[in-house]
Amino acid sequence: MRVAMIGTGYVGLVSGACFADFGHVVTCIDKDAGKINALNNGEIPIYEPGLQQLVAKNVAEERLYFTTDAKDAIRTADAVFIAVGTPTRRGDGHADLSYVYAAAEEIAELIEGFTVVVTKSTVPVGTGDEVEAIIRKTNPDANFAVVSNPEFLREGAAISDFKRPDRVVVGTDNEEAVKVMRELYRPLYLNETPIVVTRRRTSELIKYAANAFLAVKITFINEIADLCENVGANVQEVSRAIGLDNRIGGKFLHAGPGYGGSCFPKDTLALSRTGHDAGAELKIVNAVIEVNDARKKKMADKVIDFLGGDVSGKSIALLGLAFKPNTDDMRDAPSIDIVAKLQEAGATVRAFDPASMKEAGHVMKDVVFCDGPYHAIENADALVIVTEWDQFRALDLDRVKATMKSPNIIDLRNIYDTEDMRDRGFNYISVGRAY
Ligand code: UDX
Repeated sequence: MRVAMIGTGYVGLVSGACFADFGHVVTCIDKDAGKINALNNGEIPIYEPGLQQLVAKNVAEERLYFTTDAKDAIRTADAVFIAVGTPTRRGDGHADLSYVYAAAEEIAELIEGFTVVVTKSTVPVGTGDEVEAIIRKTNPDANFAVVSNPEFLREGAAISDFKRPDRVVVGTDNEEAVKVMRELYRPLYLNETPIVVTRRRTSELIKYAANAFLAVKITFINEIADLCENVGANVQEVSRAIGLDNRIGGKFLHAGPGYGGSCFPKDTLALSRTGHDAGAELKIVNAVIEVNDARKKKMADKVIDFLGGDVSGKSIALLGLAFKPNTDDMRDAPSIDIVAKLQEAGATVRAFDPASMKEAGHVMKDVVFCDGPYHAIENADALVIVTEWDQFRALDLDRVKATMKSPNIIDLRNIYDTEDMRDRGFNYISVGRAY
C-alpha cells in the first residue's frame, strides 16, 4: 500500500515509520522545510527510544520518504493520514482544528482514484463529517472515504504501542475503506489484534473516552493517596489490592504529582467542552481537570511544608523535569508548577533531567541546569524526585547523603522504600505512604 502521512510531529513520525516497517511505502509530508531537511539527514526532532533506528532502516530500504511537496505522494496514495496537531484553542478549551481543515483542503485538490482519508489526530466528535464536507466542497468529483483511526501511543513506548496495540479502532461505514484499513494493519491482524470497526463519530469519541478514563483513574488514586497520608495507610498497597480485581485492573494506579503531557490535559479539556456543547455535562471529567490542576500546584506546598514552611534562601534540587520518563516533552509537566512556586517562595532551584533540559529552558526561568544527579544535589537543602527515570531509581544513597547539605528527600514518584530511607538517616516523604 502507498501511504501519505501529513504532519511529522510525534504521531505522524511514529505512525509513518511503523507503517513503513510493516512493508508499506510511506511519504511523510510537512510544511516545515527545516524539519524535513533534518529528517532527510537522519536527524529525529523528538526523543523517542528506537525511532532513529526505525527511520534509518526504512529510509535505507526505500520505504520511507520525507518531503515538503505533498503532490505526488497524495496523488498516488491509497490512504492519506492527517496527523497534524490539535492544540487547545486559546481561551476556551476547545481543540483547534485549523491544521486539520487546512490539510483536508490540500488533500481535496490532489487525490486521484479511490482514496481513504484517515484522521489520526485526536479530533472532537463530528470532525470527520467536517473533513468530508471540506473535501466534497473543494473537489466535488473526488472518490474518497473519511475514516477515523485514533492513535493510542504513549510517549517513550510509542513504537511498541503501535506494533503491539491492545486494539485498533477504525471508524467508518464504507466497506471499501475498511478493506484498505485492514490491509494497512494486516501484520497486526495476523497477530490477532482486535480491530474494532465502528461508525466514525463513535471512533472519535472512543479516543477521548479512553484518555479521560485513564486520567480519572490516575486522579482517583491521587486523591486516595492524600487520604492514605492522613489516615496512616499505604497507597501502593491499596493500588495493588484493588488492581488485582480484574474489573479494575492494576495499570494507571500509580499515585504521583498529577498527570501532564501532550494528551491528557488537552483531551480532558476538549472532551469537557464537547460534553457541555452537546448538552451532556461531564461532571467527572470536569472534576478530574480541576483536581489535577490543583494537585500540581499543591506539590510545591508539600515540599515547602516538609522544610518547615519557609524555603527562602534554600537550595532545592529537582531530579526529573519531563512529564514522564523516556521523553523530553515538557508540555504540562508538573515540574513547571513546582519550580515556579518554589522560586516564588524564595528558593533556588537546581535541576537535572536526562533528556528534557533544553525544552525545560523554554518554559522555566532561573533554574540551574546541572550535569547529573550528584551535581544537582550539591549542597542542596532538599531533593525532590519529580520524574521516575530509571537512572534515579538506584542512586548511590551514601553519596547522596554526603553531597547534600541536609538529607531531605521528597519522592513524588514513590521510587524508594520509606523504611529503608529512614534507616539510612534521610528525612524522607513520598506520596500516599504513611509507612
Ligand atoms: C497518553 C496515553 O496513554 C496514550 O494512549 C495516548 O495516545 C496519549 O496520551 P502519554 O501522554 O504519552 O500517553 O503518557 P502516559 O504514559 O499515559 O502518562 C500520562 C501522564 O500520567 C504522565 O504525566 C504520567 O506520569 C501520569 N501517570 C500515568 C501517573 O501519574 N500515574 C500512572 O499510573 C500513569
